[in-house]
Amino acid sequence: MDKRPTTKLFLDSGNPTDTQKAIDLLGYLDGQTTNPSLVAQNPEINMKLTNGTRLSENELLEEYRKIIQDIKKIIPEGSISIEVYADLETKSEQMIKQALEFNEWIENAHIKLPTNKEGLIAARELSISGVNLNMTLCFSQQQAAAVYSATKVASSSSVYVSPFIGRLDDIGLQGVDLIANIKQMYENSDHHVELLAASVRNIKQFLYCLYLQVDIITAPLKVYEEWAKLNKTLPGIDLDPAQFMDMGEYLDTKHLQQMQYEEVDLNKSPELYEISHELTTKGIVKFAQDWNALLGK
Ligand code: G3P
Repeated sequence: MDKRPTTKLFLDSGNPTDTQKAIDLLGYLDGQTTNPSLVAQNPEINMKLTNGTRLSENELLEEYRKIIQDIKKIIPEGSISIEVYADLETKSEQMIKQALEFNEWIENAHIKLPTNKEGLIAARELSISGVNLNMTLCFSQQQAAAVYSATKVASSSSVYVSPFIGRLDDIGLQGVDLIANIKQMYENSDHHVELLAASVRNIKQFLYCLYLQVDIITAPLKVYEEWAKLNKTLPGIDLDPAQFMDMGEYLDTKHLQQMQYEEVDLNKSPELYEISHELTTKGIVKFAQDWNALLGK
């Protein structure tokens, strides 16, 4: 039996060395996601900084472009997500400018934009222009519905929405519930938005997303290392779904609060959804801080 899951597997890392390691573990890799915090952890960039080198904005972008192109050499067919710089003041026009520039770095890029008001305006414009998108820092069904609505015009572009599991767990909510809820909400949609489970921190969250058969999971190398140790167990093949659900240990149901499903109409205008979320705001601030730290700001 082919043990490859139907879910596409991406690596969450800003280090091309990890790309090859993930392929060695899995035998393949469907794509990779990056973000400013992951770029800030890249060993080569870190080496430069510890040597006292200060990077200018152009030099940092050049480093980012090199990382992306190095990943591309390893997974030429894979989708690679590149994130725009955004802080709380960044306007949609500035996101669009960066997106169009980054989109030239490689073929088959997905441009990451924050799921806030300006990001959604940019997403609408960019999807009309055929730019592939990955809407990041999503923490609610309302935000995922707004992504769906804002990009509905997308004819040729591919759109992902990235709900962050681990960061919901951090505030005491069962992050994987949001994944299940968005999957259910999208069930009767035109499926132009693919569900990409992100901020996956451990094997339990990973296996649960496989069980849900989400479109895509992005996970750090350490999760793939753990999965390889489990002989790449697949819920539904190696683990009976009922038995899997009974395995209370897979999810921390004792400590985390369930997230209830909400009926959301997908056919409203994007501005009519409740898209503000404190974790999106915090996430934007943190990405901006990590990026600016590289510039000595
Ligand atoms: O894929 C998004 C991811 O990089 C964020 O992960 O662990 O910082 O919440 P984390």
